[in-house]
Amino acid sequence: MKIVILSRNKKLYSTKRLVEAAEQRGHEVLVLDHMKCVLLIEQGRPHIYYNGKEVTDVNAVIPRIGASATFYGTAVVRQFEMMKIFTAVESQALVRSRDKLRSLQILSRAGIGIPKTAFAHSPKDKDISSLIDSIGGAPCVIKLLEGTQGIGVILAENHKAAKSVVEAFLKLEANMLVQEFIKEANGADVRVFVVDGQVVGAMKRQAKEGEFRSNLHRGGTATLIQLTPEERSTALKACKKLGLAIAGVDLLQSSRGPLVMEVNASPGLEGIEAATGIDIASKIIEYVERNEFNAPGQ
Ligand SMILES: Nc1ncnc2c1ncn2[C@@H]1O[C@H](COP(=O)(O)OP(=O)(O)OP(=O)(O)O)[C@@H](O)[C@H]1O
Ligand SMILES: [Mg+2]
Repeated sequence: MKIVILSRNKKLYSTKRLVEAAEQRGHEVLVLDHMKCVLLIEQGRPHIYYNGKEVTDVNAVIPRIGASATFYGTAVVRQFEMMKIFTAVESQALVRSRDKLRSLQILSRAGIGIPKTAFAHSPKDKDISSLIDSIGGAPCVIKLLEGTQGIGVILAENHKAAKSVVEAFLKLEANMLVQEFIKEANGADVRVFVVDGQVVGAMKRQAKEGEFRSNLHRGGTATLIQLTPEERSTALKACKKLGLAIAGVDLLQSSRGPLVMEVNASPGLEGIEAATGIDIASKIIEYVERNEFNAPGQ
């Protein structure tokens, strides 16, 4: 089959591995930069141009859309859906999971464990204090919604510090959330990699000494982990509720059980393949093979 991988960079580990796995299984692979795709919308015949040529005869699409390209990237995925081509991640699920507020609302309604979280648009002085109190007070975590790789995640040790940080972010007109600090997670989180309703790999990421953020980019280290049945079912349920067939679910191990911090719709393969030794790229290609004919509207 002819598989399109939507990725901004052919040289990225995850993209390279997906190309490798697909070719090994006898498929033709085309890596397209979604930001360079031209969408043509006309009556009854949606199509896509790339480098001035029409993209044709595609059987399936694997989107690898980064957070900064969500808007146009999902429009490209949607265009493939309009062309009745199967996509490994649905455009709607991608949009849903990228919106941190919306995904937490969905997970909360589904009764899935999440850290207590508060959002506010433009709180006044008193509201800021009650916002902090509403999630159990300080110490608490304040996160910029646009943050990634741990940058923009702040641990405020006391109420005064928390209030100052919220005020500073408001002044900068940054979108943020205030979240209960899960101290007992001890600077670690668990990444569960899910493909097609199955856990295909899991790792524990531990922050370096003196750091509470476990991001590998912040010096964290990853090791293989055996999930508890509850961690497994929490991760699978979160994916199901968000409509993601492929996802990286980040859990915090709390005293009241696993709490979902985030569900990532374009999870990286490098860390998880290195930590587990599992060929996750092939699992993704096998999933696509099983669903080639499950395109929307067919
Ligand atoms: N509420 C919390 N309690 C304890 N530790 C937390 C909490 N929230 C985040 N952390 C730690 O900080 C790290 C970074 O937080 P988070 O994953 O939310 O932000 P990010 O990695 O910058 O964003 P993204 O995952 O969207 O790229 C987490 O991996 C975790 O180790
Ligand atoms: Mg993270």
